[in-house]
Amino acid sequence: MRILIVGTGYVGTTTGLVFCEMGHQVTGLDLDENKIKALQAGKLHFYEPGLDELLSKHVTAQHIEFTKKTKKAVKENDIIFICVGTPQGADGSADLTYVKNVAHSIGKYMNKYKIIVTKSTVPVGTAELVTKWIKEGQEKQVPFDVVSNPEFLREGSALQDALNPDRIVIGSTSETARAIMKEMYRNFHCPIVETNPNASEMIKYAANSFLAMKISFINELARLCDGLNININDVSTGIGLDTRIGPQFLRAGMGYGGSCFPKDVNALIQMAKENGKPLSILESVVQVNEEQTIFFIEKIKETLGGNLLNKKIAVLGLSFKANTDDIRESPSLHLIDRLLAEKAQIKVHDPVVKIAAGPSLVQLQSVEETVTGADALIIGTDWDEYKNLDWAILKPLMIQSFIFDGRNMLEKEALGNLGFHYIGISNH
Ligand code: UGA
Repeated sequence: MRILIVGTGYVGTTTGLVFCEMGHQVTGLDLDENKIKALQAGKLHFYEPGLDELLSKHVTAQHIEFTKKTKKAVKENDIIFICVGTPQGADGSADLTYVKNVAHSIGKYMNKYKIIVTKSTVPVGTAELVTKWIKEGQEKQVPFDVVSNPEFLREGSALQDALNPDRIVIGSTSETARAIMKEMYRNFHCPIVETNPNASEMIKYAANSFLAMKISFINELARLCDGLNININDVSTGIGLDTRIGPQFLRAGMGYGGSCFPKDVNALIQMAKENGKPLSILESVVQVNEEQTIFFIEKIKETLGGNLLNKKIAVLGLSFKANTDDIRESPSLHLIDRLLAEKAQIKVHDPVVKIAAGPSLVQLQSVEETVTGADALIIGTDWDEYKNLDWAILKPLMIQSFIFDGRNMLEKEALGNLGFHYIGISNH
């Protein structure tokens, strides 16, 4: 089947390459010339482990091509996946401008029956809107079906997640479209949830919101446990082994970030309000998440004597999680903003992210340079390479030996033995 992917961000590019792996011929369409040029040359314009090898393999084998030419791409392909961004609008709801533009173009250039699939995270009712927008764009009537097929991959493990999904959700009222979609996914060995587009769209928001809720639950509980001298990691392990709860997304930290959870939880809250059924539980999830950085920074302040004026602080990790260069809504950057507001002097390090320096903010190439002369070190992102640092070498480089682990990823006891003063998130 000839597949067109509109939008070559990490979801679009990964999805396209996974379909190549499944033996399909794929075209990636994007209006951004720089992205297209890079992809045509077999180079990713973002950091995602493992994806670059797959890209160059399929570009070389001509299983995938990239183009800016919308008309030709729409005409030549049978199944069109919409993978464009749905950023947060001013009121918290999802902004569908890009989806609408794509739907209009598809309508305009459609020459024969096609299936249009929304993979972007879109609010309930969007499949109906896409149908309307395609019809608006059509100059003559051509039959088509719209399918909602949300994506559940994570940044940092996009390829693994997309190749091995827990489930595939297909939301459509058309039996023909559902049958074709199932055929496309025939090589995946996971349950397929067939439903209508509205339920499918809701499943995506519900999944992300539920996971965000687990994180806020454990983070708020961590604050209580902190006061009670209880190790929150033990609590996570203890409850996570209950198969009804599950161990994942119970890692306490500085709060969730990224381009998805913050935006999607807000969008669902907004959707609920608009429908007169507010989701107070999710409003609390957001509040807890916003407070979590404050809780952590208060801890740092208290430990360092009540104020951070001119304190020299090394922050390791800038991305919102490990294995990505994405800094959108990164808890580490929120923390740095607050440290700067408290007039601390900051040096930062990240294995892949580069940020602009400021008067009190310097980025260095190595961890050694970053921690040299520091009063305290903060783990901002759970990059594996920070787990394996040689702390015995780092310690004498620092002026004071405070480590604040915002990701609860280091070995408290081992660091204590080396003479560090280690503080995690309720990591007693
Ligand atoms: C999330 C979902 O996990 C994916 O299923 C979904 O497809 C994606 O959003 C999306 O909608 O596109 P992602 O944002 O890439 O994926 O990253 P996650 O691994 O979910 O992490 C989100 C945030 O939660 C990160 O800041 C992470 O550090 C934090 N987190 C995660 C915790 O603080 N504790 C945990 O136990 C797990």
